Amino acid sequence: MRNLPSEVIIKEVGPRDGLQNEKQWISTENKIAWINMLSNTGVKEIEYSSFVSPQMIPALSDAREVGRRIKRNPNVSYSALVPNIRGLEYALEAGIDGASVFMSASETHNQKNINKTVESTYPILEEVIKEAKQAGKNVTGYVSTVFDCPYEGRIQPDKVLKVCEHLINAGADDISLGDTIGTAVPSQVEQLLEVIMKEFPKEKLILHFHDTRGMAIANIMTALHYGITRFDSTVGGLGGCPYAPGAAGNVDTNDVLYLLHGVGIHTGISERKMQDAGLYIQSELGKKLPSRSLAYISNL
Ligand code: HMG
Ligand code: MG
Repeated sequence: MRNLPSEVIIKEVGPRDGLQNEKQWISTENKIAWINMLSNTGVKEIEYSSFVSPQMIPALSDAREVGRRIKRNPNVSYSALVPNIRGLEYALEAGIDGASVFMSASETHNQKNINKTVESTYPILEEVIKEAKQAGKNVTGYVSTVFDCPYEGRIQPDKVLKVCEHLINAGADDISLGDTIGTAVPSQVEQLLEVIMKEFPKEKLILHFHDTRGMAIANIMTALHYGITRFDSTVGGLGGCPYAPGAAGNVDTNDVLYLLHGVGIHTGISERKMQDAGLYIQSELGKKLPSRSLAYISNL
């Protein structure tokens, strides 16, 4: 197809975004086994856990042990979510290549998710970014609710731009724009990218789609036409933010691979191995994941 990039980098965020919303406890042993499987799929980036308050995200309370014990593939960059300096210290001890800081463009979601106003989040993240950079780590700044907020409705692109500018000025290497509740349609993606790409080169932008309304693939296709080459996804379509009511999982990595490989874009990821990783975690969770691809291969 015309005007599409030849290569895309996918960050598999299943072990973090995928598991954070699950009631079913996955043992540390099995998390490690799953991340090791993902490490051998050819994926270049994995977000392996989250160093947040264990009261708020009990499913990932073993982040330190997971980080210490996963078998690192030298071709994979391992990152984790970090909300504050304490989280960064734990993450550095456990081992990270990249730190992901996070906040929302909308005031109410920011408050519910990290218990702070947008304004009072900046100094905290600025310090985390500074320390992480001093430790030689890549820093991604996640901005949530960039299209719609579960509490405030539509969010204007200028508001999102402001947060991106703060994070980049503080030293973040790149920005992941999050459709936290999975409600955006392609025209919203266009409107946001028109604003954001006036300020930042496409290399600094990652798109992170949840798939509540089934629009994530259409949105990714739209972003590809803008030259975006980095996307987050979760194998099996796992995921969701416990502080974003109604949000479904992230777009399924297998659907993204089917699209990208189908239109001739290289990812370096084996679809077969990614499906196996999806079947593994589906069986550990003991429930069918919202994945067309896993349903399809199970019916073959
Ligand atoms: P706070 O409520 O402001 O209060 O937390 P705090 O800083 O005093 O901490 C509260 C408790 O957590 C205390 O424990 C702290 O010690 C502990 P207590 O004294 O009550 O026993 N604590 C920690 N423990 C371990 N590691 C830490 C840490 N920090 C504090 N690093 C805080 C503020 C940000 C920590 C809290 O609100 C929090 O952890 N929130 C995380 C919520 C979360 O993880 N949400 C999901 C991820 S975001 C997402 O999914 C969106 C994304 O995918 C993109 C998209 O889809 O849009 C990224
Ligand atoms: Mg998310």
